[in-house]
Amino acid sequence: MKYPFSVELTKKSRLPEVDFSNLVFGHSISDHMFVADYLDGEWTSCRIVPYGPMLMSPAIMALHYGQAIFEGMKANKHEITGEPLLFRPEMHVDRINRSAIRMAMPPIPGEIFLNALHCLLDIDREWIPQSEGSALYLRPHMFATDASLGVKASDTYRFVIMTSPVGPYYPKPIRLLVSEKYVRAFPGGVGFAKAAGNYGATLAPAQQAKNEGFDQILWLDGMEFKYLQECGTMNIMCVIGDTVVTPNLTETILAGITRDSILHLIRDIGLKVEERPISIDEVLEAQHSGELKEMFGTGTAAVVSHVSEFSYKGKIMTLPPLEGRTVGPMIKKVLENYKKGLSDDKFNWLIPINKMSLSTAK
Ligand SMILES: Cc1ncc(COP(=O)(O)O)c(C=O)c1O
Repeated sequence: MKYPFSVELTKKSRLPEVDFSNLVFGHSISDHMFVADYLDGEWTSCRIVPYGPMLMSPAIMALHYGQAIFEGMKANKHEITGEPLLFRPEMHVDRINRSAIRMAMPPIPGEIFLNALHCLLDIDREWIPQSEGSALYLRPHMFATDASLGVKASDTYRFVIMTSPVGPYYPKPIRLLVSEKYVRAFPGGVGFAKAAGNYGATLAPAQQAKNEGFDQILWLDGMEFKYLQECGTMNIMCVIGDTVVTPNLTETILAGITRDSILHLIRDIGLKVEERPISIDEVLEAQHSGELKEMFGTGTAAVVSHVSEFSYKGKIMTLPPLEGRTVGPMIKKVLENYKKGLSDDKFNWLIPINKMSLSTAK
């Protein structure tokens, strides 16, 4: 193995302290984490250690100049065999490395990323919850660790994976506020990257939206405030007539792995799909004519989050009730079942932890 691992197990598991019937997203962190350091131009010191605080200088560059990126993914247990399952992990390797390159950070080798997940899930398999809508959320992230105040790309980095048992993200349908003032991403910027600053920049607008009674912002493009981009931290899909329509991927949209998976599944079922620019005017017209049947966000955390209403220019638009919807609820179930090994893995998306050999991981 090119990158050997060391493993230090916790002396006392915190598992008995967790109330699995009442999981708050991201509050409980599992017993172990993976850590690797980038020094002198290479990734080194790959280790699994008990989860806990790290000693860091307040001068580390991640804190000042924002070289910090992350991924969000989930592991489930096979519904029948109980074996831990990873879902399309290589897509997350590719995405974190697209983020890394854009942020002048070193790519993380797939071998390190995938072996780390394999080991962590093997060790902390009891932390994977099995109740409806729950999963083990995995948070790989990388940040600049040079302790120096000059503005430049850091020479050193740390890559960490921690994991957290989670329940359903948005149990209720969400209300969206179409932002006519703030933008999430701009052409030439970093919208396609999962860079920490992208999220920091959306927090104040999201708080304002919450204060006005909305759950998330429906982001429009920054050039014309005309085309749908994403909603909150999810990709957006509309069902207009008998077609699922979603914005085509551009440099201002994060390429969601849930989005990609849902598009594959929807096409496989035989429904019509269009990936193309969608203007807010088109959505309004479809709403007025009754052709707008559904709207939902897609993302790892929520899987599918149904939209009940959206507000544009001070007017509330109400979508048809959840009970009458067919695509969103159906595709959510299809994807959740797929992730739990309940359907044929026809796209080869599942990586069972027991079968993934450490030495052959990409
Ligand atoms: C901005 C943004 N868009 C979309 C998504 C959905 O991506 P995925 O389906 O890979 O979770 C996420 C979540 O990762 C996100 O943060």
